[in-house]
Amino acid sequence: MKDIPLNERIIVALDVDHPDKAKELVKKCESHISYYKIGLQLFMGSWFETVDWIVDRGHKVMLDLKFFDIPETVKLAVEQVNSRGVSLATIHGNDPIIRAALEARGDMKLLAVTVLTSFGEEDMRAMGMTGSIADLVYFRAKRALELGCDGVVSSGLEAERMRSELGEKLLIVTPGIRPGDNVVEDDQKRVMTAGKAIAAGADHLVVGRPITKAADPIKVIESMQQEIAAVAG
Ligand code: C5P
Repeated sequence: MKDIPLNERIIVALDVDHPDKAKELVKKCESHISYYKIGLQLFMGSWFETVDWIVDRGHKVMLDLKFFDIPETVKLAVEQVNSRGVSLATIHGNDPIIRAALEARGDMKLLAVTVLTSFGEEDMRAMGMTGSIADLVYFRAKRALELGCDGVVSSGLEAERMRSELGEKLLIVTPGIRPGDNVVEDDQKRVMTAGKAIAAGADHLVVGRPITKAADPIKVIESMQQEIAAVAG
């Protein structure tokens, strides 16, 4: 298991519409958390303002814009990001897109999104696809690693196989973390508890609503961090 500080294991997803709300959330959580994810909603509402603010405060940023376009466009988009102090950025894609993004990665780490955690087996069947999500995630992760990607975004359910078959180097970042065990209570379908996801091999956990919508976010963070510490030491 990698030696990752406890305050960087959970990446809080700042899924809010305004930079002021994001800053308020960071101020609430920063005694315990030093890693924040900025996704499409907040980026559309603040561009780099929140990214710069969080980096200047000494915290890490995962910029989750899941770039997906022709290779040259993805490369140019990654270039726009690689000098802003962002630690992790996400891309989708097939081999040429991943290769192009890697050319422009700079000091950032790049994560390939494997299969969204909101995508379930029934969605696969509805598209007429056979096979399992577990295989799809595994083979996409294997390919991304072969191409030089630093890691993947996947649910905790696929982490164990990736960790045992693809090795320690692969960075596994896992959303779909829920306090109850595998309880589907919203749009996330492949969910897991914090402790189980880390035990399965995840390096970082992306947690949004269970923290951001909680009456007492610190209480939720402390409880998840206890679970993590029990497994990761
Ligand atoms: O609120 P919740 O904990 O479900 O938030 C999960 C976050 O992780 C969201 O910001 C979502 O965009 C992100 N994410 C995800 N599944 C992926 C990649 C990112 O849920 N495969």
